[in-house]
Amino acid sequence: MKPLRHTREKRPGKLSIADQTSASTKRINVNWVIMTATSVLVAALALLGSSGAEASNLPAQAQLINQKAFNVLNNTQPPAVFNADNIFVPPGLTEQALTNRPFHVYDEEFMKIIGSHPTLTRIAHSPKNPLYHEAVVWSKKTDEVFFVQNAGAKTSGTGLNKSAIIEKISLSEAARYYNQSDAAGRVNVVTVPSSPMVINPNGATNYRGEIVFTGEGQGNSSPPALWVMNPQSPYNTTVLLNNFFGRQFNSLNDVAIHPKNKDVYFTDTIYGYVQDFRPSPGLRDQVYRLNPSTGAVTVVADNFGHPNGLTFSPDGKHAYVTDTGINYGFYGMNFTQPASIYRFDVKEDGTLENRKTFAFVSPGAPDGIHCDSKGNVYAGCGDGVQVWNPSAKLIGKIFLGSTTANFQFVGHGRMVICAETDLYYATVAADGNYVESEM
Ligand SMILES: *[C@@H]1O[C@H](CO)[C@@H](O)[C@H](O)[C@H]1NC(C)=O
Ligand SMILES: *[C@@H]1O[C@H](CO)[C@@H](O)[C@H](O)[C@H]1NC(C)=O
Ligand SMILES: *[C@@H]1O[C@H](CO)[C@@H](O)[C@H](O)[C@H]1NC(C)=O
Ligand SMILES: *[C@@H]1O[C@H](CO)[C@@H](O)[C@H](O)[C@H]1NC(C)=O
Ligand SMILES: *[C@@H]1O[C@H](CO)[C@@H](O)[C@H](O)[C@H]1NC(C)=O
Repeated sequence: MKPLRHTREKRPGKLSIADQTSASTKRINVNWVIMTATSVLVAALALLGSSGAEASNLPAQAQLINQKAFNVLNNTQPPAVFNADNIFVPPGLTEQALTNRPFHVYDEEFMKIIGSHPTLTRIAHSPKNPLYHEAVVWSKKTDEVFFVQNAGAKTSGTGLNKSAIIEKISLSEAARYYNQSDAAGRVNVVTVPSSPMVINPNGATNYRGEIVFTGEGQGNSSPPALWVMNPQSPYNTTVLLNNFFGRQFNSLNDVAIHPKNKDVYFTDTIYGYVQDFRPSPGLRDQVYRLNPSTGAVTVVADNFGHPNGLTFSPDGKHAYVTDTGINYGFYGMNFTQPASIYRFDVKEDGTLENRKTFAFVSPGAPDGIHCDSKGNVYAGCGDGVQVWNPSAKLIGKIFLGSTTANFQFVGHGRMVICAETDLYYATVAADGNYVESEM
């Protein structure tokens, strides 16, 4: 839950798959001419020499990023000029070049994640209103993907006046356009009339065949809450929790179900306050755990700037919590604060211990976070989705060039990515990490 940053008008300009196919077709034709003009052997050697094994395996939508090439820059700028709010463009590249081939390979391990033919399609666009923000959830039973509007951005018209909306798309409808770069306007985005209405939803996950949302609350009298919503009409909701021993939470942010103990873990932080729709915080920023059968609510971690996204590794042995401490909403950025992912060990009893700094990201801050079925870690950041292996090595990015608060795997090899004013559908080789019993 953050205000917009790095938003810019972009897209078209990106080469569609059709364009790329015809471009590579042209290349083949040229090669054919060479082959007829000279000997087949010479042409084959020339091809090998010019591309090399690695580059020839590279999918059309991907590019290799050589990190060593920018270890030493000829020109660097002071923090007032270049900082967490700026997209880094490595020397020799342009932002357009980074966007044209959005799957950025930082390490060969990323090739297994994207497979041989990754695709990225913009499926919706909203000129100003950040309609595609967070809480991305796949409902397997309805083949739909739910997500929510940003409640805190000035351009949303929400704040104290009205709550952020829940929206959904049909996955099969989005999938129809997988081989196009831009299908905005062609995929129906439908407002979900939750009833009673979920107030300022921000995070969500599958929960016992329904969806649990974190609501940030609104003003003094609509407290932040965990809401459960039926993913089918009439979209009826039930409040699961709305206080800590009588005290209002600050603004509940994100939620995850532990794969083994099935408890509901969630983060609470101050974004409703720094975005002017909640009163001064009355609790410490921290991570909580609800045991739905006993009703027990406990704190499992604190000492964050602003704890934000959270998820578990597929085996349930680790918890990942993002910290967007760097971002103070309407009050700007403090660059000495965390833009970090912390990893905890989850003990047998469900408590967390051994916090380790797993990553510090640039640009922006890590927000929504999810693992794939192999335990690789993906987080929405200031330039798209960044991906680390379980040993905290940055292995790649799905580069969008703008703030990406959250995303979700939506079945085998498919993702839906929320980038505030743009919504994307991606196909990759990796699989999501689902708590099947919750779906
Ligand atoms: C996308 O795939 C469909 C179905 O296979 C095909 O009809 C269409 O021409 C393709 N479009 C592009 C841009 O490749
Ligand atoms: C730095 O400048 C040198 C000399 O002009 C040039 O050869 C080199 O490519 C530049 N390096 C970068 C990273 O821009
Ligand atoms: C709320 O609505 C009123 C009346 O339409 C408007 O004047 C005011 O600016 C709005 N406030 C916010 C915070 O959007
Ligand atoms: C919605 O209503 C159905 C039918 O009464 C009920 O089974 C379900 O638990 C309700 N779901 C929520 C989240 O309130
Ligand atoms: C940034 O955070 C540090 C550490 O809390 C604090 O000392 C400093 O005053 C903050 N800077 C601004 C500009 O708020």
